Amino acid sequence: MSSPESVPKPSGAFHPQVRVVADKDAIFSAAAAEWTVRAQAAVAARGRFTVALAGGSTPKGLYELLAGSAGASLPWAQTFVFFGDERHVPPSHPDSNCRMASEALLSHVPIPPQNVFRVHAEEPDPHAAADQYEAALRQFFGEGSVPQFDLILLGMGPDGHTASLFPGSAGLHENARWVIANWVEKFATWRITLTWPVLNQAACVLFMAAGADKAAMLHTVLDTANDADAPMEQYPSRYVRPTGELIWMVDQAAAAQLTR
Ligand code: 6PG
Repeated sequence: MSSPESVPKPSGAFHPQVRVVADKDAIFSAAAAEWTVRAQAAVAARGRFTVALAGGSTPKGLYELLAGSAGASLPWAQTFVFFGDERHVPPSHPDSNCRMASEALLSHVPIPPQNVFRVHAEEPDPHAAADQYEAALRQFFGEGSVPQFDLILLGMGPDGHTASLFPGSAGLHENARWVIANWVEKFATWRITLTWPVLNQAACVLFMAAGADKAAMLHTVLDTANDADAPMEQYPSRYVRPTGELIWMVDQAAAAQLTR
């Protein structure tokens, strides 16, 4: 675990593409279009498309859309699905992000089972589960440099967390490991999560945020991101600054306090 002072302050200028759309359904349609363009381009260029799914509730609508006609022409055989984070529960548990994605998408599309890399969060030791997942990433992407996903989907909590990088959590200060177990005090539970190095290496990060309960934090994250005193500890989502594109897909309710 790196010490806080070693965590690089985001140096890159913060130029997110912020797309405000009417409602959740519009977010899902726009996100499905982004997925489609990126999947087809990645397969054409490199023969594969690598994507890390977001958990929580918002993305379910996108996954259900992709399970239907919107996903019919996607290159599922060349698509490789990972998870940005996972709760420390078995895949059968109602809180499992893998269960949600399987029920909404993965069990409805012709993706080969070996193309889906779930976190083995049934492992009693969360650190062992994180180690196993990092080993799976290293086996797939190679040991060398930090893996670059073609697309990482993320959500944001009203508290500013993303993936399972929560305000004040130790995981905010990890910038060597690719996957860690992160204790989340507010839920008194462990989570397994990708870390900043992987999130910020992505070719594209696509946030989806909807609802009035996200409006205040969205203003903080998007309108004050370059404040010198920006404490990462409090607003993790503002520290997602990928080497590639950063797209925020938000509905009007979530965008209500934006000044940009
Ligand atoms: C999780 C997610 C988490 C989620 C946010 C937003 O495992 O819960 O990784 O970061 O994206 O909490 O959740 P909603 O989309 O449900 O608001």
